[in-house]
Parts: sequence; structure tokens; C-alpha cells
Amino acid sequence: MKKTVLFNQEAMLEREGQWLSVIALADVPSYGFITIDVGEHSLLLSKIANEVRCFANQCAHSAYALTFAKCDGQQLICPFHHYRFSLEDGRCVSHLCAPLSRYPVRITEQPSLRVEVYLPLNLI
Ligand code: FES
Repeated sequence: MKKTVLFNQEAMLEREGQWLSVIALADVPSYGFITIDVGEHSLLLSKIANEVRCFANQCAHSAYALTFAKCDGQQLICPFHHYRFSLEDGRCVSHLCAPLSRYPVRITEQPSLRVEVYLPLNLI
């Protein structure tokens, strides 16, 4: 059985892009989410099992923003057509649908704990 790769961080890092400090680690909700704008782009961040995830703030179904999505701690429920997406990996768990677009994340410790996101150049 072929395994589907939802997110390939190494492939993302090979694209020309830039690490950007976007938020203090303490401001990323555990088992919830926050949306922030970086330039013209909107990101959705969540902390699951102490690991931060960053997705595009854009539903994979019809590209509406997920800012007002509901969250049950593990999944986002899009307010428009109620597709459900895993906060763990961004896959759609309720319908046949592409996963949320996801970006590499790293935590920096100096001068304080911050979340950096690697955004491809076409997103900056
Ligand atoms: S736009 Fe999100 S489910 Fe349709």
C-alpha cells in the first residue's frame, strides 16, 4: 500500500524562502489555534503535543479563511462547509479533499522563545 506524504519538510526547505520570526512560543495555543498575518499572508498556528504546526489560513476546500473555524482540540471545523482538518498534519478527515498547506517551523531561544516559519519566497 502506498503511503501518502502530507508534508515533506525537506522538500519545502529546498524551495527558495526565508525563516521569519512570527510569534512568541507562549502565544501559540495548545490544542487550539491562532491566526496571524505576515505581510499579505495569513498563517494559522497550533501547538499539538508540545510541537508547533503552521498552516496557511486557508481552507483546502474553497480557500476561505479559517479564522472563525471551530476547534475541538484536535481538529478544525471550517465554518463554511464544515470540512474537518487535523491539526496534527492538516489532512482533511471528513471528506475527500487536499490537506491544508503546511510550512516548516522551528523554535529559537535567543533572545526569547519565538516561533519561526519558513515561507517560500512567493509567500513573502
Ligand atoms: S471552504 Fe472550508 S469547507 Fe468549504
